[in-house]
Amino acid sequence: MPARIAPLVTLARAPLAQLLHDLRALGDLRRHAATVGDRLEGFVAPVDRLVRRLALPRRGYARTLVYRNDAFELLLLAWAPGSRAPIHDHASQDCWFVPLAGAFDVDDFALAAIDHRRAWLTPLRSRRVGEGEVDRKDELEPLHAVTPATPLALSLHVYARPIDRCRIFQLAKGNWWWRQLDYDRVATELGE
Ligand SMILES: [Fe+2]
Repeated sequence: MPARIAPLVTLARAPLAQLLHDLRALGDLRRHAATVGDRLEGFVAPVDRLVRRLALPRRGYARTLVYRNDAFELLLLAWAPGSRAPIHDHASQDCWFVPLAGAFDVDDFALAAIDHRRAWLTPLRSRRVGEGEVDRKDELEPLHAVTPATPLALSLHVYARPIDRCRIFQLAKGNWWWRQLDYDRVATELGE
């Protein structure tokens, strides 16, 4: 009697779970920055499902943590209409940003000089990033401002390594200060 062969059933991971699996396998993301960018390019996740689980802001933006270890953290940000992330750096870490819904205007700046209170910035470029288009910042070019360009705006952020504070810059006044970065919600189930 021939052995019965069980059908091979492969349950597909949810997109966020698969992404986290792939990123964890890379180890130090900064050493595989191009691979991370390729993995995130065109990334699509079920927005309807996600929106129900995220912190949603009345104004500004809300940060929902999906995953964090010593190597990286992955967050989803929901943005209110009229919100803006002011010019900021990324604590000398790498950052990948990809819109999941809507579009964002990204303005890049160079840091010409800085002291304990003042900073001298130069505008570099501006561009609009749409769903699945990756924007990356790193130690060499760390500054940008991010403004949602659509009423529904949802973005995915990967920071390697995790970032607990960043510097905020004011172009007009030429000053800067530290901002502590908190989570509005923790939703690790989104990555499972
Ligand atoms: Fe940023």
